[in-house]
Amino acid sequence: MSNDAKADEPGTARSGGTLDVSYALQLDAADSLAHFRSKFYIPTKADLKRPTIAKPNDEPVSDESIYLCGNSLGLQPRSAADLIQVFLTQWRTKAVTGHFTDHSDSPLAPFLNVDDEAAKLMAPVVGAQQSEVAVMGTLTANLHLLMCSFYRPSTKDEGRYKILLEGKAFPSDHYTIESQIEFHGLDPKDAMVMLEPGNAAIPILSTEQILKAIDDHADELALVLLPGIQFYTGQYFDFKRITDHAHSYGISVGWDCAHAVGNVDLKLHEWDVDFAVWCSYKYLNSGPGAIGGLFVHERHGRVDMTKSSEKYRPRLTGWWGDDKSSRFQMTNNFVPRPGAAGFQLSNPSALDLSAVVASLKIFEEAGMHALRQKSLQLTDYLETLLTAEELVGPSPPYTIISPRDPAARGAQLSIRLEPGMLDTVLECLEEDGVVIDERRPDVIRVAPAPLYNSFMDVFQFCRGFRRACELALDKKEFQD
Ligand SMILES: Cc1ncc(COP(=O)(O)O)c(C=O)c1O
Repeated sequence: MSNDAKADEPGTARSGGTLDVSYALQLDAADSLAHFRSKFYIPTKADLKRPTIAKPNDEPVSDESIYLCGNSLGLQPRSAADLIQVFLTQWRTKAVTGHFTDHSDSPLAPFLNVDDEAAKLMAPVVGAQQSEVAVMGTLTANLHLLMCSFYRPSTKDEGRYKILLEGKAFPSDHYTIESQIEFHGLDPKDAMVMLEPGNAAIPILSTEQILKAIDDHADELALVLLPGIQFYTGQYFDFKRITDHAHSYGISVGWDCAHAVGNVDLKLHEWDVDFAVWCSYKYLNSGPGAIGGLFVHERHGRVDMTKSSEKYRPRLTGWWGDDKSSRFQMTNNFVPRPGAAGFQLSNPSALDLSAVVASLKIFEEAGMHALRQKSLQLTDYLETLLTAEELVGPSPPYTIISPRDPAARGAQLSIRLEPGMLDTVLECLEEDGVVIDERRPDVIRVAPAPLYNSFMDVFQFCRGFRRACELALDKKEFQD
């Protein structure tokens, strides 16, 4: 596994006294990123239980919930409201001139440049040059757009028309691939090469299996499209080996980084990835349905049509992909912007980008390397408490189905419960103010996010989870 190294200080969670609450407190006290938690709104237990969004005046201040669901929807940065307010003021006081003019008292760029500002902040999060990133659209739409450019079976790929993907791909990815294939008049049953895990109980795809599938279908594959991190298991794929292997046959590789962005320390440029897409509402904390992003490697973003060696990559176009100097000339002569920006279509919502920028400024301050280091430690601690025999006995009623190698997973651990336990476990956790998510019939996903989760969150979750499991087993026994 070559994506990244192990944690600098992986934590000594297995040595003496480490299963005690005092150890969680000790880890939090030593955590140099702990102060980032205060930059987020953590919903309280009362917030989550109340049937309204507004808090009644007489409601007592209650405990913060244990929020371990950043893999689904990240928490709101306190600064999001500030930047959205700045956007509203800029729009209110400057109207159309807000597009063009810098304002000394505004932390937001002029509306015209706010997408570039977002790309500059996003680039280090995904390990890219600024020109390789565009902050635009939504994940599925961006995937369609880039497949229009990178999957052209009838022309570019000289007879190659198949796409390698996982059999259990996220539905939107599956549908995108299926419909793209149909769009080209091909049969998805023939053109979709699906990877199935060898062991259904632990549904991990080994890198060797993926490389072999590439070998087996090399003559027919036009594209390999995989998730950076698998949504169900949390598996972190080996970007570099898979990309290099596909490239050795001249096959393009795209990555869906929905669960990887802001979670692991991506190096999309260095790994020579052809393209990638992602959303910003999970680990990037930019709000439900927030503007997403895409990566196009710089060798595919060249637009110098005069040099035969640097061909322009055909794409679907719109005026926002037009060079800024000609964009407003209305000549209808498309002059593409170099890089990922040349794949943009429409002028983006500055309102929406304000939330993305607010979040990315926090990532700029924390740094992805440091976040990944803390994440490795947090998830290692979670795994330790879930598996320590002193706490859970020799055969706990669940199995961790995420990779056990820390370098082969992100923040998330997916846990498969014994049949019939899920409902009781979910009820108990909800009662305790714990937020995780479930994939029925029997898997829960638990994702400590290093920006706002503490070691104490993990400790409290595990204590509540053990109680919930005991209750679920008692109930099952009674029913049996
Ligand atoms: C792995 C993966 N791919 C695609 C999507 C779809 O994203 P969107 O609805 O933003 O297009 C999601 C959404 O959660 C996802 O997790």
